[in-house]
Order: sequence, then structure tokens, then C-alpha cells
Amino acid sequence: MANSAELTVDGKSYSFPTLEGTEHEKAFDISSLRDQTGYVTLDRGYKNTGATKSAITFLDGEEGILQYRGYAIEDLAAKASFLEVAYLLIYGELPTKEQYAVFETAIRRHTLVNEDMRKIFDGFPVKAHPMGVLSSLVSAMSAFYSDIEGSSEEDKTDLHIIRLLAKLPTIATWSYKRSLGHPMNYPKNQLDYIPNFLNMMFSLPVEDYKIDPVVVEALNVLLILHADHEQNCSTSTVRLVGSSQANIYSSISAGISALWGPLHGGANQEVIEMLEAIRADGGDVSKYVDMAKNAKTTGFRLFGFGHRVYKNFDPRAKIIKKAADDVLSKLGVNDPVLEIAKGLEEAALHDDYFISRKLYPNVDFYSGIIYRALGIPTNMFTVMFAIGRLPGWIAQWKEMREQKEPIGRPRQIYTGATLREFTPLSKR
Ligand code: CMC
Repeated sequence: MANSAELTVDGKSYSFPTLEGTEHEKAFDISSLRDQTGYVTLDRGYKNTGATKSAITFLDGEEGILQYRGYAIEDLAAKASFLEVAYLLIYGELPTKEQYAVFETAIRRHTLVNEDMRKIFDGFPVKAHPMGVLSSLVSAMSAFYSDIEGSSEEDKTDLHIIRLLAKLPTIATWSYKRSLGHPMNYPKNQLDYIPNFLNMMFSLPVEDYKIDPVVVEALNVLLILHADHEQNCSTSTVRLVGSSQANIYSSISAGISALWGPLHGGANQEVIEMLEAIRADGGDVSKYVDMAKNAKTTGFRLFGFGHRVYKNFDPRAKIIKKAADDVLSKLGVNDPVLEIAKGLEEAALHDDYFISRKLYPNVDFYSGIIYRALGIPTNMFTVMFAIGRLPGWIAQWKEMREQKEPIGRPRQIYTGATLREFTPLSKR
């Protein structure tokens, strides 16, 4: 017999069904709670709230498990290409060779961005943060690419998906080039996805960029590790905005803005700035561990530490830590902040404050060190996260629309003034 949960309130009993996911996580279905009882729930930060049913990504924070569509992240990072993973997330299965060829060719052919969009870059201050520019330009895509005459809804969505995947790297590298005052490079469609991105980032009219396979491989792994993470802040934002039937560009632009925050994707930039600050201050990690332990008075947190759902270890961080050692040694880079990062991790992992709160390095702790070794500047770190997360946002937006989810509209507990009489301005 199916389980149910009993709730007694104001002397009356109510019954609510429970449900179980395919990986056995359990939930109370309280869809009828307010109708039945007149009560709502209060769950700040949605720490216990399942906002949707989803078949895309499974994670178990206690066991440190992350799977996309049933495939272990460790397997995908070791064996797949980023575009294969994008296809898997968006369409639910790994592509056949034929499906992959069609998908990859379509992306290759849509990398060029409307020339009028290029002019928008001139309106931004040169020193604008690339994340602000990226979010604005993706929103602007809705003005340039929303009409696809004579296509079915499904065909339109597929073309929007291709356009987003194809053009985001172009826009991202343009935002960076603009911040340097360098000319913006056009995509070269004879290049694969990651080499094309690297070429747009680093080549100059006066100097070609030599694509290093070590760099391509490292970026492939990083993008896969960031590709989805179920109902995190930016993904929930994408789904919430999309639930009003806003178009895919506006929804993803909102997700990019959410990702920018330092508690979310923006943490990767904060980590490197923090490690640099520790180095400049003589490299004494214990001083910073102490400051973080007194976060309430110092206001200082160890960026790259802690996670809402991972309470044992972050499987992405484990892969990235190993990759950081490999990549730096293959590229012959000796980055002193890597030693500081390892020292900080060691000190924190042996400290009661961090142990008791289950605070471990997260995906952002070592990713910046790899980006840096690849030559990617600090203000582009969160943009790299956005390029990686794009397939996840798309998959979640598409699933939300296909499941015909109702508009997202949380409740609140009102704590303001009760009804009072209006006093005209002349009498105040
Ligand atoms: N340094 C020091 N103390 C911390 C940290 C930290 N990085 N993270 C959490 N705490 C403490 C916090 O002060 C609180 O202590 P107390 O119980 O004494 O009040 C306790 O740990 C629980 O913290 P919380 O803020 O209630 O936990 P949360 O689940 O709401 O927050 C988090 C998760 C990721 C926002 C938080 O750990 C954090 O701010 N970390 C630093 C920012 C960061 O690295 N973010 C990237 C997350 S991974 C990439 C992504 O997917 O976005």
C-alpha cells in the first residue's frame, strides 16, 4: 500500500500522499495542503522544497553522487565530449553517430552572430564585467532571433537551442575582447567547439593562436562538470522565468544573472582573488581559516567551500583537484596559489568548525586554478561556468515546458503592518 503522511492541525487530521523518485528519494506531496488546511509551508532558501519532478540530473549530497540522465559524472568527464553531454542532457539519450553529426554540424553553422548585435558591444563601458555583458546580449538574442516563420513549435525550440549553444561562446569571447580593447574575432567554422572558442579568445590580427590539445581536453572536462546540477539557484531561476512562458533567451539571460552572484558561480572568481590575497599577505592560511570561523563578525567566508547539498564531498571537486595537478604539470605551469589552495583545504578539513558544518571544497575551489593555467583571465571564470551550464539550463527549460508546469508563484507569510487608515499628504 502506498505510504501517506498524516498531519494534525487545529485538532483535525489530514492525509497527504508520499512519493518516491527512481533513486529512492522520498517526498510528501503537499499540492493540496492549502486547499485542505488553509496553511502554507515556510521554507526559506527552499532547503526542503522539491520544486518539480525532473528526469535530467540526479545527485545525492550525502554520498557525493552526481549523474546526468543516469550516467556517472566520472564516466562522462573521462569519456565524453562536451557536445555529446549537451545532447544527452537536452534530448535524454546519448546521440548515435548520425544524431551527433547532425547536432554538431548545426552548431558549427550557427556560430556567427548578427552584425547588429556586434554594435551593441560598443555601448558598454570597456571595463564592464563580461558576465553583465553576457546576460544582456543573451537577452538581446530574443530581439534578433525570436521569429522563425512557418516552423512548428518543436522545430523552433530546436533551432533556438542550436543558436544558443553556437553563439554563446562567440558572445562570451567578444565580451572579453571588448574589455581588453582588442578587436573581436569571428568564429572559424572549420574548428571544433572548444578550439573555436579558444581561437576567438586568444588569437589576434597580429598573431595566430596555437591550439594546445592539453588545453582543449582540460576545458572539455571542466565544461562537462559544470553542465547541469539539478535545481540550483540559476537553474531554478531559468525554470521560474520560463514558467511565465517567457522565451528561452530571456529565461537563460536571467539564469546567467543568477549565476554571477558570489555565492553561486561567481565564487570561482572570488576563490582566486582570495588565494591571491592570502599569498600577498604572506601565505598564512591559518589566519584566513580563523577569519572564516568568525564569519559572523569578520563577514569573511572561505570561497569555494561549502555547498547546499553536498555534505560529504563534491564529486566535481574531486575530479577537478586531480585535473589541476595533471594540467599544471602537463603545461609546465607552477602556480604558487595551487600550494596555498592545498594548504587551505588541509587546514580547513582538520578544523572542527568545518568538520561539524560539513564544509568541503566545492567545484569552484580548484577550477579557477585550471582556468588560470589555461590562460583564461579571472573576470572570465564565471563566463566559463555559464558556457558549461548552458546545456543544463536548456534541458531544464525544455523539460519544464514539455511537462506543462504551472507558473511558479511561491506564497509568503506576511509580517507587515495590518490594515490602517490613510492620512492625506497635507495632514502628514
Ligand atoms: N566559510 C565559512 N563558513 C561557512 C561557509 C564558508 N564558505 N559556508 C558555510 N559556512 C557556515 C555558515 O556560516 C553557517 O554557520 P552557522 O551554522 O554557524 O551559522 C553554516 O556553515 C551553514 O551555512 P549556510 O550558509 O547556512 O549554508 P547554505 O547551504 O545556505 O550555503 C553556500 C551554501 C554554498 C552558499 C555556502 O556554503 C557559501 O557561502 N560558500 C561560499 C561560496 C561558494 O563557494 N559558493 C559556490 C557553491 S558551488 C558552485 C555552485 O553550484 O554555485
